[in-house]
Amino acid sequence: MSTLLVHSQEGTPIHLTTEPQLDGWLSENAQTTKSFVLATRQEGQNVLLIPDLTSGALSSVVCVVDSLDDQWLAGDLAKQLPQGVYQFIGDEALIERAATSYILGAYKYSAYKKTAPIQAKLAISAPKLYKKVSDITAGIYLVRDLVNTPAADMMPQHLAETFIELSEQFGGEFKQFIGDELLEHNYPTIHMVGRASDNKPRLLDLTWGDENAPKLTLVGKGVCFDSGGLDLKPAAGMRNMKKDMGGAAHVLGLAHMIMAANLPVRLRVLVPAVENAVSKNAFRPGDVIVTRKGITVEIDNTDAEGRLVLCDALAEAQAEQPDLLIDFATLTGACRIALGTELPGFYSTDQQIASDIIAEGLELNDPVWQLPLFDQYKALFKSDIADIANCGSTPFGGSITAALYLKEFVEPETTPWLHFDVMAWNVRHLPGRPVGGEGLGLRATFSYLQKRFG
Ligand code: BES
Ligand code: ZN
Ligand code: ZN
Repeated sequence: MSTLLVHSQEGTPIHLTTEPQLDGWLSENAQTTKSFVLATRQEGQNVLLIPDLTSGALSSVVCVVDSLDDQWLAGDLAKQLPQGVYQFIGDEALIERAATSYILGAYKYSAYKKTAPIQAKLAISAPKLYKKVSDITAGIYLVRDLVNTPAADMMPQHLAETFIELSEQFGGEFKQFIGDELLEHNYPTIHMVGRASDNKPRLLDLTWGDENAPKLTLVGKGVCFDSGGLDLKPAAGMRNMKKDMGGAAHVLGLAHMIMAANLPVRLRVLVPAVENAVSKNAFRPGDVIVTRKGITVEIDNTDAEGRLVLCDALAEAQAEQPDLLIDFATLTGACRIALGTELPGFYSTDQQIASDIIAEGLELNDPVWQLPLFDQYKALFKSDIADIANCGSTPFGGSITAALYLKEFVEPETTPWLHFDVMAWNVRHLPGRPVGGEGLGLRATFSYLQKRFG
């Protein structure tokens, strides 16, 4: 959560304007202000600090942006303002965009490197708007913090702590199965993937809300570090695999938004949390596992572990036939090859829901791109000795085959299912989006959920 956002009426006004509108804005102000800006503004300077011309104190800020409709219009502003408390001037929608991008742009992961903190706080006076911006940005901050934390400090037990904190904060019920308990309660695949690590595998399970409300279940891939297992990743591919619990981070961030907004749903959050490690007891290529659902899976590649831990969690999620089932996972490298790193791909068994989420994404500038559940590719992960294999011999269509594998464990006839294949990471800086862990598609999904269940 950001400590930069405050609920207050007081704050130095920030006027947002565009270059063509700047002249008009200046003409509405005192001649001295206009003269000051004309005399002092440097070429390309977009943040203008306007003094009170008698006291010399800062009296307002003018921020020149490309478009007032841009979702990220204030994404780089926080770092450019001196210490103080500020507030945006404009209609509610403009303030929401400006404040959300301002706070998201002010994020820093500072657990291990003390950098100068941002000193410019942002005030929002309208209570509802303050809460909305606060809840959404807190959800995204949570995703970023979880993903940015080094794997040594973000193992299954640490994810469990986050579950406990959330359930205490919002009054949910948390339970977990740890290590061999996974075998006792029939989660063989989660146990198999995680058994080589000293950090025991877990299934984390949070329920929240009125039990008679519509059931919404979120499942997130919680691979706290993905070495690839015995099919070890090369160095470059392993370097950033602390982010392989990004799906878990996404569902925790989304759960935070849902619970903070008190959405009338019965929420369940399931995270299979493991480390895909190498040890003498690691699972092997060629092993066959009888999954929770009873489907037998031959391990073709131990690096395709995300779908393995997810399949037991999805089978459990499906068992109570929720009204909607959504999973988030850093599932495949192939999805990034297809769409690049800044556009999350998703799959849906229900076209209306898919179309609604796409529309929310466009509206909120949080775009998501639908990929096909092209059944013909199921043949690519067949096995000679088991029902299916965990991946196929060809990398082509890798995100689709992974999604089709997961689909084997859900029942679209009773429960619509959405699957997001996410990057969870900004590889370059964009306004409001610092390099590092990121939650993508969450504002779009949350907005859809609010319209559907709210
Ligand atoms: N965690 C990776 C996928 C990944 C890689 C996501 C890079 C984001 C960035 C996943 O467990 C994996 O290794 N998948 C393999 C599957 C293959 C072995 C069938 C992949 O995508 O190469
Ligand atoms: Zn992997
Ligand atoms: Zn992985």
